[in-house]
Amino acid sequence: MKKEVYSEHTRNILGLQLPTDPRWVNLAEMELADILTDHAYCEQKAATTCISLIQKNPEKTLLVQQLSPIVTEEWGHFRAVLAELHKRGLTLGKQRKDVYVNRLLEFQKKGGSPTERFLDQMLIMALIEARSCERFKRLSEGMEDAYLRKFYRKFMESEAGHYTLFITLAEHYIDKKTVRARWKEWLEFEKELMNSMEVRGDRIH
Ligand SMILES: [Fe+2]
Ligand SMILES: [Fe+2]
Repeated sequence: MKKEVYSEHTRNILGLQLPTDPRWVNLAEMELADILTDHAYCEQKAATTCISLIQKNPEKTLLVQQLSPIVTEEWGHFRAVLAELHKRGLTLGKQRKDVYVNRLLEFQKKGGSPTERFLDQMLIMALIEARSCERFKRLSEGMEDAYLRKFYRKFMESEAGHYTLFITLAEHYIDKKTVRARWKEWLEFEKELMNSMEVRGDRIH
């Protein structure tokens, strides 16, 4: 029953235009050490980006209030993945170049107004959370290993709440019509980006 709710959620609410290539889950399971390392850094970057958003927007009380606990949560995710690596006799490993995130950053409005820049910062976070949630969902449903399926289900549930939070924050500070219009552009861009990227099992995105 609960599974159905999340399937619906991923299809309709995340709004992502291109589902992950089904081959990715099998590739990821074969390269688990790399996936765990990459995943750990994704969580670490989520935590540090939330800290930086708080630092850059101290006047936005709701944002400061809402993102503070997310920092703790993302750092908890980082620690959970780190523990999983150690349990398997693996170390953290080196951080890779994050092509997905870098390409998204390039799409941000350059030289726009502070409001436009803020909107893009919120939407880029929403998008990364949404795609991560979708990827964790694929892992939680498609991996052979039952323990790992459960492991990734917990992350999926958590990231689903995060993506909606960034949209909600954007809509709190900027009118909904503007947010929705730009979100549509972001979704379209992300579809093209995903389409252009090689399917690799050694990374989350
Ligand atoms: Fe996370
Ligand atoms: Fe998150």
